[in-house]
Amino acid sequence: MNTTAPAQAASTGEVALRVESLGRQFAGVKAVDGVTLSVSRGARLGIIGPNGAGKTTFFNMLSGELKPTSGRIEMFGQDVTRLPAHRRVALGLGRTYQVTRVLHGLTVRENLTVAVHGLSRSKLGLLRSWRAYRRQMEQVEELAASFGLENRLDVLAEALSHGEVRQLDVCLALALKPSILLLDEPAAGLSPAERVDIRALLNRLPPELTLILIEHDMDVLRSAVDEIAVLHHGEYVARGSVAEIQQNELVRELYLGKQAEGAELPKETALNAGTESGGGLV
Ligand SMILES: Nc1ncnc2c1ncn2[C@@H]1O[C@H](COP(=O)(O)OP(=O)(O)O)[C@@H](O)[C@H]1O
Ligand SMILES: [Mg+2]
Repeated sequence: MNTTAPAQAASTGEVALRVESLGRQFAGVKAVDGVTLSVSRGARLGIIGPNGAGKTTFFNMLSGELKPTSGRIEMFGQDVTRLPAHRRVALGLGRTYQVTRVLHGLTVRENLTVAVHGLSRSKLGLLRSWRAYRRQMEQVEELAASFGLENRLDVLAEALSHGEVRQLDVCLALALKPSILLLDEPAAGLSPAERVDIRALLNRLPPELTLILIEHDMDVLRSAVDEIAVLHHGEYVARGSVAEIQQNELVRELYLGKQAEGAELPKETALNAGTESGGGLV
């Protein structure tokens, strides 16, 4: 049951992201096959699907790291299909990756400073005025404080726990003040306690932010999103509330079918998730 729907989401009806017939082939394999969907500003959309369903490929096309073989992508009504990744970032697209971008050898403060500084692509760089520099330092501290890392600012990244690295990863993406944030499996491989921290972080995201979250853990999804879209073999097969998707016959068959084939499912799949609370897809 979707009893813990995110309280902060503030969908306005304005379309933040729209994709039409989006596709990508790799040597004849349709990794993403004609996906059409739209996401309103402030909406929180989860994306699930078995391994190899095309979720990460879909994100890579949204962020501009991968060229689609067909289709169109719009951000706030603007066609961005052919824009390079950095132009999409400038238009408000932020993301994290399945592999962390946190820099070792730097403290949390330094990692965040690099990210916040990246926002002001000023040619003067660090020679900017002291006032601007002070503002950046304040931003770093505000960002860390909003996401529970304020006591870890001077800790080296390599000394952080696995969960804290994930939190920092999300903070790095937020440093660029995105309007649309794409998170690729932020809770994968985390302990149950660390998942609780990630859930808390997701619930603290700015209400106007549009969130698209690839995640297998139904507990994380349940607390962070209002809707789930399902990909299977690159195709967009279902969309609905968390409760609807959990009860969706087709979705259940897809996961059960996958299990019946003896395919290896990651630890956090919807099927296995929810062991803490008894949730999960089945
Ligand atoms: N760079 C690539 N080259 C060739 N095939 C790829 C590449 N990236 C992904 N694929 C294939 O595309 C399909 C979808 O992969 P992916 O998007 O990573 O799925 P998911 O994130 O849902 O697990 C898989 O069959 C995968 O092997
Ligand atoms: Mg993936």
